[in-house]
Amino acid sequence: MPDPAEPLLLRALRCEKTERRPLWLMRQAGRWLPEYRELRTRHTFEEMAGTPELAAEVTLQPLRRFPLDAAIVFADLVTPLAALGLAFRFEPGPVLERPLRSAADIRALRVPSGTEIGPEVHATLRLVRAALPPERALIGFGGAPWSLAAYAVQGGGKSDFPALRSLLASDPLLFGELLDTLARLSAGYLIEQHRAGAQVVQVFDSWAGLLSLADWTTHVRPHLLRLLDELGRAGVPRILFLNGAPHLATAAAELPSEGLALCWRNDLGALRAASGPAKALQGNLDPATLLAGPEATSRATRALLANVPARGHIVNLGHGVLPETPHASALALIEAVHAEVRA
Ligand code: CP3
Repeated sequence: MPDPAEPLLLRALRCEKTERRPLWLMRQAGRWLPEYRELRTRHTFEEMAGTPELAAEVTLQPLRRFPLDAAIVFADLVTPLAALGLAFRFEPGPVLERPLRSAADIRALRVPSGTEIGPEVHATLRLVRAALPPERALIGFGGAPWSLAAYAVQGGGKSDFPALRSLLASDPLLFGELLDTLARLSAGYLIEQHRAGAQVVQVFDSWAGLLSLADWTTHVRPHLLRLLDELGRAGVPRILFLNGAPHLATAAAELPSEGLALCWRNDLGALRAASGPAKALQGNLDPATLLAGPEATSRATRALLANVPARGHIVNLGHGVLPETPHASALALIEAVHAEVRA
């Protein structure tokens, strides 16, 4: 018998039949909520993410305002890089003080034990789990090796990350050593998040789409596979998120993860038909649709629900909720999901 107190999201992740589809929003903690912006007037982003009490408060804010099925811990993608000795600041995106460009820099990196990687994030998870009702899932997150390398090598967000792709072209062996280090960093960090209370972790590959399928398969996939395998061996439920990468979706569906999240460019219904029922799919409304208002959002949500079978579907956006999103649109999305009558 299913335990009614077990979060819907965890049951959907196992592709069990649920009374309705679970729903959360990528990047729901932070930038789009007035209560976040109010706290932010008194603290820097670094203070908020670095202080477990503040980070726990920000993690819980979206669930106080909206009946969402999961909380995602408030931290940043680059947070674990600090454990490699890499210093960064936010302007507002992450900027590294000394991007990794030389073989000596990359070969000097040492991965510490999991408890030493983002300890403030583990402390935040413990606080949130204690405060969160049992039927809401707690999601931890980290970066895929490629997307962490994007910031570590480029030094900041830059369209198409040319320094990263140039490192791959000039020295694929060194590139592989860097991705191996970052995969081990993410594995230790995420296993520790699971121990601290994260019931599932999402691996964000925000820049997944920058390479061809052939280059991705040769140079990136092995490291992503190693990370997912290590999490699997530790018993950590996994959602893999690929942004901007429809050309990799079929290959990504074959990687070991309980869930696959994809951006709005993908047809989740077609992917479900092609990949069979064993893997949960997450997504994938265009975040910009919500800017068009509640009616457009309801229409798009109903179309999504009609296109993707309910079983094993976690409703979400295809990427992060945009800062200017009207709350009425978020409510319309939630209402459309809650209103769906199960056959
Ligand atoms: O749900 C959540 O928002 C949880 C917290 C969260 C943040 N960053 C907080 C944050 C999460 C899940 C992230 C992940 C993240 N950070 C990713 C992967 C997800 C994605 O969107 O693809 C990436 C690529 C980053 C890098 C990053 N950090 C950027 C580009 C920026 C700039 C502005 C923004 O909001 O995206 C940041 C800063 C950042 N990280 C903020 C927040 C709330 C804004 C900081 C501020 O308040 O000024």
